[in-house]
Amino acid sequence: MNTPTHYPSLFSPFRLGARTLRNRIVHASMNTHMAVETRVTTRLIDYHAARARGGAALIVTEPISMARHQNVSYRARGWNDDNLDGLKRWADAVESEDCRLLGQIQDPGRGRHNTGIGAHALGASALPDDLSWTVPHALSASEIRSMIEDFAASSARLERCGFSGVEISGGHGHLFHQFLSPWSNERTDDYGGDWEGRTRFLRELITAIRAACGRDFLLGLKLPGNDWVPGGIGPAEAAIVASRLTRSGEVDYVCFAQGTHGLALERHLPDSHAPALPYLGLERDLRASLNGVPLVALGKITEPAEAESIIASGDAELVALGRPILADAAWPLKASQGRTRDIRYCVFCNICWDTINTHLKPIACINNPRVAEPDEADWRPAPAATKRRVIVIGAGVAGLEAAWVAAARGHHVTVFGRSAEAGGKTRLHARLPGGETLGNIYGYQLDAARRAGVRFELGVDASAADVIALEPQVVILAAGSRMLRPHGNWGQVRILSSGSKFGPDPEFPWPDLRNAMRDILEKPERRDGTAIIFDMDHTEATYASAELLRTLFERVIVITPREYIAQKTALVTRQAITRRFHEKRIEVIALAEPRWSESSAEKLVYANVYSGERSVIPNVGFVAYSTPRVPEDGLAAPLRAAGIEVHLVGDCALPRGVLAATGEGHAAGNAV
Ligand SMILES: Cc1cc2nc3c(=O)[nH]c(=O)nc-3n(C[C@H](O)[C@H](O)[C@H](O)COP(=O)(O)O)c2cc1C
Repeated sequence: MNTPTHYPSLFSPFRLGARTLRNRIVHASMNTHMAVETRVTTRLIDYHAARARGGAALIVTEPISMARHQNVSYRARGWNDDNLDGLKRWADAVESEDCRLLGQIQDPGRGRHNTGIGAHALGASALPDDLSWTVPHALSASEIRSMIEDFAASSARLERCGFSGVEISGGHGHLFHQFLSPWSNERTDDYGGDWEGRTRFLRELITAIRAACGRDFLLGLKLPGNDWVPGGIGPAEAAIVASRLTRSGEVDYVCFAQGTHGLALERHLPDSHAPALPYLGLERDLRASLNGVPLVALGKITEPAEAESIIASGDAELVALGRPILADAAWPLKASQGRTRDIRYCVFCNICWDTINTHLKPIACINNPRVAEPDEADWRPAPAATKRRVIVIGAGVAGLEAAWVAAARGHHVTVFGRSAEAGGKTRLHARLPGGETLGNIYGYQLDAARRAGVRFELGVDASAADVIALEPQVVILAAGSRMLRPHGNWGQVRILSSGSKFGPDPEFPWPDLRNAMRDILEKPERRDGTAIIFDMDHTEATYASAELLRTLFERVIVITPREYIAQKTALVTRQAITRRFHEKRIEVIALAEPRWSESSAEKLVYANVYSGERSVIPNVGFVAYSTPRVPEDGLAAPLRAAGIEVHLVGDCALPRGVLAATGEGHAAGNAV
């Protein structure tokens, strides 16, 4: 990287321990789910190499299995020589880019995401995990000591393989945190009882790693900042822990994690509803307890200007990026060149967390369709061999992604969009509470499309004849999907396939939620009565709509036939939605569905899905349904019949979310 003229503090070198970092940017540990059957894979290496090439000065890996009881298949094994070659290739790929690679030491202890008994859980005491109620085996003192030996020996193995250091994950409610917290540690032996006892496990581990590895080897520590558990580790306790663990001078840096395994799990990933830099104030306070050890600021640092101001003002020595450097591997490189508009910014949707934890798949990002591709960092489209006339139908994020990529490859691209503004349903979501960051997705796409010379025909509902008349060689159909109209007087809601448009319909006067919210947003003013959403959707936009309605209506009720809401969102997202619903007093009626034919403009009748028992909500001011969707793919057949090559992408191929839309749009733009 050349000497930067942009963000001079952020791009100033820093002496960390015995090493010099080229700038102040750290990649925070993130589980990628890219190891396979405990093996280091090419994909895992490519993911990290892209971020080293993209300019990070130090990368903390996901947890590596460093003690012999750790055998999860999606974690690379580092406690024996199985992976020596893979670990070496991993270290070499990153270190050769002038980026230091640190392996993370972590054990979840009793922490599990799903209710039930987690097998083989270990812990400080035999007390249930607050989220899953898993009761761990309480480690004996000799088991603790042999675990420390394993962690130290594995750290030395990583050093031999070329890693620059390790980070101990002591927060997030995992094993070490469970020892630190009086809430989960009721031991009466040397590893419990008081702060001296509760910090002993980590102090002995730090000393053992220092003894096993060379003085140049970096040792970082992630500690709890505030776990939000009464009787746990709040800011005052975090300061005591940090002070005791940094006193010996053996640790090279500290960063702080928030939340724990419980109702506060979501705090470790502040989402799009959280303010900017939500933890900086707390980190500033905790810094005083670090005995001069460098602080790595962490948590929703989105833009280079924020990172620069943290370093320039002396709030921290380094900044760590988790989700933002997933969204754009070249975030540091682009920032150093002043190309901030070229950065694909994280929108803090936490789909990445959903991908690995709910779906157990390799990490993915809704604003980065190229995660872990070998050419990911600062990727530019390759010119197409033959330039073609391409029409994209639909100006949502699937269509826009296809359009800019195809045009940047040299094709002549025209986009038709039904609305006057591009962005599709994502633009609507962006106007709802917590959705604002979504504008970064289509904002980037529109900039890139304009630069590549895409022609836009917005506010046009193009017919097959209109399209055929333009003689395209390829059509990318990205026209989205529409919600189906509910109907029914029976035990289960039936859906009519005729679709819906907002407007009076004598048979069914209630609108779908999207059209209803567009209407509300035209005139967002106080209204009378109760607002009701019938929810067979379970994605975030439905709940963001409820939150907006709550600012306008005295009472808002979400009715769903399921046992609970938000089933298509990540656990952390669902926790946050549920928390806000309680804070804002948005009501949920579960296991219920409206009896539309018994309802009227003023009252909604609903029935329990099991018993059929009726209830009535009087004084209704707003009702809308949010239901399963069908593709708007009607143009595909006539266009194909006319001999045109047609690609269907996003909801138009199969209604899903933004992750599929950007991914498929990107692939289509590259394929034509
Ligand atoms: C998908 C995902 C996986 C994560 N996995 C880990 C992990 O394995 N170890 C860890 O210490 N932190 C993990 N984290 C937390 C991040 O290191 C970081 O603390 C958090 O994302 C907040 O930083 P950010 O706002 O820059 O994303 C993970 C975060 C995400 C989004």
